[in-house]
Formats: sequence, C-alpha cells, structure tokens
Amino acid sequence: MGVTLEEENIKFGTSKKVFYNPAMQLCRSISSLAVGAIQEQIDVVDAFCASGIRGIRYAKENKNVRELTFIDIDPNAIKLVKKNALKNRLKSAFKRGNISKMAFECEADFLEIDPFGTPSPYLLDAFRFFNRKKSAYLSVTATDVAVLCGGKVAPCMKNYHSKPLNNEFTHEIGLRIMIKKIAEVAAEFNMGIQPLVSFSDKHYLKSVLALKRSADSAYDSLKEIGYISFCPKCGFRSFGQFPSPCQSCGLMEFAGPLWLSDIHEKKFLARMRKLNSKRTYSDSPKIDNMLSLMENEVGMPPYYYNVHNLSRIGNSKSVLPINTIIDKIRSRGYRAFRTHFSPISIKSDAPYSALIEVL
Ligand SMILES: C[S@@+](CC[C@H](N)C(=O)[O-])C[C@H]1O[C@@H](n2cnc3c(N)ncnc32)[C@H](O)[C@@H]1O
Ligand SMILES: [Zn+2]
Repeated sequence: MGVTLEEENIKFGTSKKVFYNPAMQLCRSISSLAVGAIQEQIDVVDAFCASGIRGIRYAKENKNVRELTFIDIDPNAIKLVKKNALKNRLKSAFKRGNISKMAFECEADFLEIDPFGTPSPYLLDAFRFFNRKKSAYLSVTATDVAVLCGGKVAPCMKNYHSKPLNNEFTHEIGLRIMIKKIAEVAAEFNMGIQPLVSFSDKHYLKSVLALKRSADSAYDSLKEIGYISFCPKCGFRSFGQFPSPCQSCGLMEFAGPLWLSDIHEKKFLARMRKLNSKRTYSDSPKIDNMLSLMENEVGMPPYYYNVHNLSRIGNSKSVLPINTIIDKIRSRGYRAFRTHFSPISIKSDAPYSALIEVL
C-alpha cells in the first residue's frame, strides 16, 4: 500500500513497488522552471516516469505543456501514474515499455531522461523521439556521480568515452563530460546542442539543453569539445583542444574529452528566475540563489578554484573570507564570482599567477 504525498502543492499517490525520491524535489522544481522558460508550446514525454510526479508538475505548473506522455518499463509505475494523472485532472497518454521501443512510436518536443544511474545507454533512443523535429529540448539526469566525478577511469571511459579527474573541481568536470556525450550523440542525428541550464546537486548532475537540427550546428557543437589540464603540484589549470602540462612544474593530469563552452544560457536563466519569483516553491530562495550563481558562471573558464587550496598554495597565513578574496581579484581588473558548484570555491578569469599573488 502506498501513501498520498504532496510536492509543491501537488498531491500524488506512491506505491512501495514504484520509485519516488523526495530528495529530487529541488531537481524537479528547477526542471519545471526550465520547462516554463521555454517560449513555445511543447509536447512533453516523461520517459522514465515512475510515479509521474515530474511530468505532472511540468504540466500543472506550466501553461506551455500541450501534450503529456508518460513512459515506464514497469507496469506498476504505469498503473500508479494513470491514477496520479487522473487525480490531477490531466489528460495524458500512457505507454508501458522500454524507451528503446517507444522511441519508434512516440514524438516529443521535450524529452525527460531520468533513469537509474547513467543516461548514456538511452541517449541514442532519446534522439529518435526528435526524428521529425527541426528543434527540440532534452532534459537529462545522471546519478552515476561516482563514475563521472570519481577518479576511476575505466567506468567513465566505458559509459562516456572520457577520462574523469578526482580533484577540487571534479563536479564541473563530471557535468561537462555528460554534456559532451550528449553533444556527440546529437551530432550523429545532425543536431547541435545549446545547454540552457546545468547543475550539480547532492548525488546527481542535471542539464536541460536546446537542440537544433543542422549539420553545421552539429559540427559547431563538436568544436566546443576539448580537455582540461590540472597540475597536481601547484594547482595550475588550463583548457584547450588538447591536454597540456603545467609550464612551471612540467606535470599534467587531465580530464576529457569534455564540453568546454557555456553550460547555461544567461537569458534563459533570467526567465527561470523571473518565473521562480512568482512561484511559491518551498525551495524558491535556494533556487534563486543557485540561478544567480549560474548566471555569473556564463562566459567564465570551465573550472573553479577552492579558496582553501589557493590560500595554501599562495602561502596565506589564514584563509581570507571568500568575499574579500573576490574583492581583491576584482580590484585588479579581473572577474571573480562564487559558483553554484561549491560554497568554498570561486570562478575567475584571472591568470593563475594573479590569483596566487592575491593570496
Ligand atoms: C529514477 S526512476 C524515475 C524517477 C522519476 N522521474 C521521478 O522524478 O520521480 C527511473 C524509472 O525508470 C524506469 N525504467 C528503467 N529502465 C527503463 C527503460 N529502459 N525504459 C523505460 N523505463 C525504464 C523504472 O521502472 C523507474 O520507474
Ligand atoms: Zn604546476
């Protein structure tokens, strides 16, 4: 027997046999804002729906959801989501089966991929939902954070064809590896990608992307893929088409290939913030803070700096307050901001030598 729960004022039933994780509420809220920030009517497919709470929230909270289809391989999930959609007075379609089979039967403007663990094996199927579309939106969650953000090369190479790096900015590396994999699969379908909003939280990584069909856009996306290099001795980092060693120490660790360009679109984030200010989510203040941090990440290098490590390398007697460090960097004419990835880290476009000097 399941119980009836409420998430952001939406009532839905659960069942012991069907997955529901209350810790993903923030992820669902941010994703729902992303749906609302899309400036067109969209047919949404919630392809790993479980209880259906994601799709139900997308449709109930946003006026631009035209049609809603739920897919799950588990008959218990489909039974439950039918009840939940009815409870919420939503007209929807329900399909029980493997996403691989459904990819040949359904079309989507916006597809939600929220599987257990890695999304990688489902990406080929995902793009078939857009076969007849010139543009579309893809929303992807990865909960295999230990693979994407760990130091183990084999599982990440196997699933994402990229080398991870377990260092102080490993979460940004993991997110960028996931986006790279999406760009590669998209390119095979002649689609280019534009990440609209991407984030790391608790045990998962998430990105919502706009897709555009053209051979040129597909190739342009591939040009945004490269490597991040990191010196394990002095903390120097750089990015480019190929890995390169630290010019001072000659050492090099590297991660990639990964997505080097922006992981959010500024105007899209601004629309999400505006929508959030009108909603009464329990997480609204936290979401606003996250979105404002993400706005500052646009146009910055694809990594961040842990201020404790910077202070240690700069031989600082103590760790200065993070806002003081930011002010000092800015007073030298560089950009510096906090980042949503870590409360003890900053992003800056200052050369590494200037950052160390500041400390
Ligand atoms: C992590 S849960 C989804 C959670 C849900 N999106 C939410 O926000 O509560 C993953 C779901 O995907 C379903 N699933 C697993 N493999 C699948 C496949 N190949 N095709 C379709 N559904 C699948 C599982 O039955 C499970 O209900
Ligand atoms: Zn070095």
